[in-house]
Amino acid sequence: MVGQKKQKDPVLRPQKNFSRHAYTSSLRQYRKLYRRSIKKPEEFWGEQAKLVSWSKPFSKVFSTPKKPFCKWFSGGKLNASFNCLDRHIPSRGEKTAIIWQGEKEDEVASISYRELLDRVCRLSSALHRYGVKKGDRVCIYLPMIPEIAISMLACARIGAAHTVVFAGFSSHALAKRIQDSGAKVLITADGFFRRGKLINLKAMADEALSQCPAINNVAVVRRAKNKIALKGGRDRWWHKEMAGNFPGYSKPVAMASEAPLFLLYTSGTTGTPKGVEHTTGGYLVYSTLTAKMIFDLKETDIFFCTADIGWITGHSYIVYGLLCNGATAVMYEGAPDAPDPGRLWRIVEKFKVSIFYTAPTVIRSLAKEGEQWPRRHELSSLRLLGTVGEPINPESWRWYFNNIGRGKCPIVDTWWQTETGGILISPLPGAVPLKPGSATVPFFGIEPEVLREDGTRAKIGEEGYLAIKKPWPGIARTIWKNPKRYIETYFSKFKGKYLTGDGAKMDEDGYYWITGRIDDVIKVSGHRIGTAEVESALVSYHGVAEAAVVPVPHPIKGEAIYAFVMLKKGTIGNDNLKVELAEHVKKEIGAIAKPEAIQFAEGLPKTRSGKIMRRVLKAIASGSADVGDVSTMADAGVVQALLEGRNK
Ligand code: PRX
Repeated sequence: MVGQKKQKDPVLRPQKNFSRHAYTSSLRQYRKLYRRSIKKPEEFWGEQAKLVSWSKPFSKVFSTPKKPFCKWFSGGKLNASFNCLDRHIPSRGEKTAIIWQGEKEDEVASISYRELLDRVCRLSSALHRYGVKKGDRVCIYLPMIPEIAISMLACARIGAAHTVVFAGFSSHALAKRIQDSGAKVLITADGFFRRGKLINLKAMADEALSQCPAINNVAVVRRAKNKIALKGGRDRWWHKEMAGNFPGYSKPVAMASEAPLFLLYTSGTTGTPKGVEHTTGGYLVYSTLTAKMIFDLKETDIFFCTADIGWITGHSYIVYGLLCNGATAVMYEGAPDAPDPGRLWRIVEKFKVSIFYTAPTVIRSLAKEGEQWPRRHELSSLRLLGTVGEPINPESWRWYFNNIGRGKCPIVDTWWQTETGGILISPLPGAVPLKPGSATVPFFGIEPEVLREDGTRAKIGEEGYLAIKKPWPGIARTIWKNPKRYIETYFSKFKGKYLTGDGAKMDEDGYYWITGRIDDVIKVSGHRIGTAEVESALVSYHGVAEAAVVPVPHPIKGEAIYAFVMLKKGTIGNDNLKVELAEHVKKEIGAIAKPEAIQFAEGLPKTRSGKIMRRVLKAIASGSADVGDVSTMADAGVVQALLEGRNK
């Protein structure tokens, strides 16, 4: 497991340019407000909800008419796009909302709140022309260009739920998500660049669309200027749509607080990704408040989050939470090491970034290249650093702290998930002392619990299941078209409590130490991949009889995918087949799901009831001869064969 924590680390209190909100400037004040948020949640959230503008005030802060489903701010109406744009115009119309840096150094754009509103209104009108109505779904398959944020906000403006599909996903994965969400419009691009290489996105979209007859309109952004085909009657150039026939201001539609804002597909423990549904009021309040307090946002901040908007981090802390606060977000199209490992630090210097938020895998990969890269750059504009996506090992934490923050910037290690909408466990900078490797303390209104198998509370220092006792405004409301899976996945193990899927322990100071996923989800470079998804991709290849996929520790990626593959009679397992299988997984899911290693196996360790013993496979894949208790195994002989295969 990555992120093995040393609990004896000194507590750090770095201070740089901090003037926290008066009531959270110390640990004592944090604890006081935290207690109030738990004791009087309705009062607390009722007050915090004033952070966003409501076109109709809510009448009830929180209710659970049908447990575990919950409702926040019922009776209230609001529009997320209005909150992120229109309301800033009088005071911040000319302020930069998005600074965009293309992969090529000289490609930069700066978009003010006024310009962003204008573009969002134009796209809203185009979506209206395509027949998109309140309650519909629109799929967005775009690289990291401003059009991705514009598309999301235009959907929110007219009351359509967006579903963004990460541009690194394959056409097959895109088709599955379009079909499940029932989207009728797709927004995509001709292509984009990744490490200088052209990716023909439209060709992938076309392949997906051949299986998605419900999509009757496609807007195509001209980004890479590669040659593509536009299908008559269905496909239109974005820039033409935005230029012509514009009626002016597009009125934001007042949405019920519980109306869906977006679906975001994420991996679970089955082969089918789940459409996590977030609704308007609760999500917006939660992402806005956490952005404001955890990142201590100030009017002059330049916030650079390196996540792709195709993931929840980009949704909450590049688009909604940031723009709703009227902040300036930096958006970068390319890879962190393109063309060299100094790229991110050049961006920090160039735009005088004050808050930098990234994933531990990025830190590890850049740390490996040496301190000379950050040393070449003026990073004094930074005052706060953040991490997200996987546990951070104390060594990387210190590298980040010393070489990027130069010992002066606190690091907020923020723990959360696609389903939580926003950060649940994190220090409040300047107030909560830091311990390298710990996500520290719960945010206001969040009651984490570390539980044993039987649902009782674990002792201090004892590892258990991380659960959250009560709902908070940002919690996903359901899984799209599958409320049963929502209940089963999150609320059935510990009745009524939200099961996170992570392991954790709490120390004597009440700090949480996340130990990683304890379900069948793997975190590869911070990306979430279900073992079952990779297994079903592998068995869909002719010649494969069965597959079992487990995580193995990886020095840069945190975890990597190790696949055990049983072949059908007559199929020969050789290196060529390994390459073909890896390519097949890429085609089915995307490059992020490609196995790091494939081992052909004659048999898999199974219980007498036929269940694959992953614990045993994990030990074998990690190179350990100690596979633990095998008394329940149907045929203990397979272990020896697998160990021999591993050593080969
Ligand atoms: O295992 C935890 C890990 O990321 C998972 C959620 O993944 P995803 O839904 O893709 O969202 C990632 C971005 C919010 C969690 O179950 N994780 C996230 N943040 C941390 C973390 N693990 C340890 N420390 C963190 N700070």
